[in-house]
Amino acid sequence: MKKTNKIAIIGCGNMGMSILVGIYKNNKVMVCESDPKKKQFLKRKYKVTVCDLRTAIDDSQIIVLAVKPQVFPEILEAIKAFSIKDKLFVSIAAGITTSYIEKELGKNVRVIRTMPNLPVQVKQGITAVCNGKNSNDKDLSLVIDIFNEIGATVVVEEKMMDAVTAVSGSGPAYVFLFVECMVKAAWSLGLDESASKELVLQTLKGSLSLLENSDEDASVLRAKVTSKGGTTQAALEVFAKEKIEKTFKTALLSAKKRAKELSRR
Ligand SMILES: NC(=O)c1ccc[n+]([C@@H]2O[C@H](COP(=O)([O-])OP(=O)(O)OC[C@H]3O[C@@H](n4cnc5c(N)ncnc54)[C@H](OP(=O)(O)O)[C@@H]3O)[C@@H](O)[C@H]2O)c1
Repeated sequence: MKKTNKIAIIGCGNMGMSILVGIYKNNKVMVCESDPKKKQFLKRKYKVTVCDLRTAIDDSQIIVLAVKPQVFPEILEAIKAFSIKDKLFVSIAAGITTSYIEKELGKNVRVIRTMPNLPVQVKQGITAVCNGKNSNDKDLSLVIDIFNEIGATVVVEEKMMDAVTAVSGSGPAYVFLFVECMVKAAWSLGLDESASKELVLQTLKGSLSLLENSDEDASVLRAKVTSKGGTTQAALEVFAKEKIEKTFKTALLSAKKRAKELSRR
């Protein structure tokens, strides 16, 4: 990534902080944050400029909006009083559309919308990105460079963002639930807590690594573990009887519908 980007992060919580960690060494990063304790921490730990909103907007080219969606009306109202010509706004908020930001800020503002997920905290996130009405491919590739520092990126059409939210935005919670269920099931078979966790986590890591390094897809690899009349088949038959595939489809559809209900367009 170019070392000359001047980037302001507005809101430095879970997500803002993860972006900061990924980019602060190679860019001039300013942070605008409301929590006094976090402000001190950010100055001390990352030696970044912590400033007010006006300074953050005036002194940067790229402004990452990383506050909660419900804070957006207030933040956009404040931002529109400043000089924002030639600035690029990057939103990471669930459900906030580019057209909503464009409508609120006006002035043909350039906006890119993104949907990262929690593993950005360990630089293993996946972030979906899309252009707004006035942003261009150069803007998009600049934002892709930023998010590639904390994982991978995928370009989607904005109309797919609610689906992305349901799949990868909320996705880490499904994986954590899976781990919780499997660990509890291991306990119920008599294994102790520490052995259960190790068996489950390493099984998950190893299986994903195998999948990533294999030319075969998940269903083929699954078949390789499943001999006819064996132990795996006995378990998989229970999953099929409990309609696990249908449960996943219904759950993700519900998440997508909720993303749409919560969105500001
Ligand atoms: N967490 C996820 O998994 C996830 C995934 C994808 C997208 N996102 C999106 O990421 C955004 C941030 O989520 P998060 O989980 O990082 O939230 P968060 O931890 O609450 O971070 C938001 C930060 O912004 C600060 N803040 C609030 N009002 C402010 C203001 N007017 N000026 C400056 N700073 C302000 C908050 O301080 P206070 O604590 O003092 O209010 C907080 O530190 C959300 O829009 C969310 O939709 C989150």
